[in-house]
Amino acid sequence: MKVKVLYRCTECSYEAGKWEGRCSQCQAWGSLQEAEKQVDSSRDKKIKAHARTPKEFADVIKSIGDKNFSVIGIEEVDRVLGGGIVDGSLILLTGEPGIGKSTLTLQIADEVSQKNKRVLYITGEETEEQVSLRGKRLGLKLDNLHLLSEQNLETIIATAETHKPDLLIIDSIQVIGSKAIPGGAGATSQVRFCTEQILEFAKPRKIPVLIIGHVTKDGTLAGPRSLEHLVDTVLYFEGSRNHELRMLRAVKNRYGSTQEVGILQMGEKGLAEITDLKKFFIEHRGSEVVGGCLTATIEGTRPIIIEVQALTNKTVFGYPKRTASGFDINRLNVLLAVLERHCGARLSEQDVYINVVSGYRIDDPGCDLGVCLAILSSLYKKAIPQNIVACGEIGLSGEIRSSKNSKRVESEIKKMELLPFFKEKSLAGAAQTLFRANK
Ligand code: TYD
Ligand code: MG
Repeated sequence: MKVKVLYRCTECSYEAGKWEGRCSQCQAWGSLQEAEKQVDSSRDKKIKAHARTPKEFADVIKSIGDKNFSVIGIEEVDRVLGGGIVDGSLILLTGEPGIGKSTLTLQIADEVSQKNKRVLYITGEETEEQVSLRGKRLGLKLDNLHLLSEQNLETIIATAETHKPDLLIIDSIQVIGSKAIPGGAGATSQVRFCTEQILEFAKPRKIPVLIIGHVTKDGTLAGPRSLEHLVDTVLYFEGSRNHELRMLRAVKNRYGSTQEVGILQMGEKGLAEITDLKKFFIEHRGSEVVGGCLTATIEGTRPIIIEVQALTNKTVFGYPKRTASGFDINRLNVLLAVLERHCGARLSEQDVYINVVSGYRIDDPGCDLGVCLAILSSLYKKAIPQNIVACGEIGLSGEIRSSKNSKRVESEIKKMELLPFFKEKSLAGAAQTLFRANK
């Protein structure tokens, strides 16, 4: 510690290296007095040793160039990723068990390996034979794909280090464990530690990694969720096991938008793109049905027209039953209250069942009107014309607010030769127009 002599202002504590007649901070005259200060001379050096030079934005952009995205070849997946897989990126693919994560990953692995890239598929859950058999059944080529059934983290990293893959796949992170820390595989601490180790290995080598993690419906399995901040991209694979429809959503993406959604269909030969959305969602519709109404929403950038079905039945005794599949039950209760109050629909003594066709899950308030009209159609036993697509968000006073997507879906509806039903101002008015209901 060195002692330095300096001059300190008695008014404002300003410190000057040499004596001055007037303080240059507070402008007081004759206020500088000699003082001593202890200086840690090694601190300066220490700071200098730790400091780094920040990079210029433009230089970083230049250094990235546009070489970054390697296209996989499955359009729906590429779009969600923002254009493909980025070198050195860590992608977490999550979803419920049995939804098709391994199937999708194997198909991605196949596409990537077709492009003369080495793929290392670590399967901790299945044997090499099981994965190979599945690949064979799916009709995949799997030329440069190397499989390893392994659950030990150290072995996996050592193998990846010698194998030098262009893409590393871990299926799934919950069964991988390390001896370096206590706890069995699947424990949150293990899941995090393993991911950090993989990240540490892959980032400097610019190897992209795809990690699979299971989550349950209520999110009880905290493992994968605790990884979200560690990884670059988080993909959710959703759908219902009883339906073919699967949606791939990016909930986080450091390399692209999280607006895009991949729409896929699980079939005999694994996952396939749905080329004709209209056919998939509404073509099966027969003639006019009581209790059915078309509505529209947007998934990513694509309009989707879907059918909502409702069934109302007089409650036999006690409390009326409300069930919804593909629609939020709380939202349904709100809509029923609005229908009762503002349309005079006597639903308090009716059981109400809602079903969204094709396993789709409605999340868009713009579909409210379609749901309400389907309910009224069933209640009044009057069919809604087959070509009508109803959209609008319903407010608590029964008003219809135009949905934010209405403009974009309108052109699609017209293209499909269907009739947009958007213009009504209130739910009662809409019901009047459609059913000429005299309540
Ligand atoms: P899987 O990819 O093993 O799910 P996850 O890895 O998410 O647990 O998929 C399992 C389900 O997918 C299984 O129930 C059967 C179904 N499936 C098909 O319908 N078609 C197929 O071609 C394949 C491979 C699986
Ligand atoms: Mg699996």
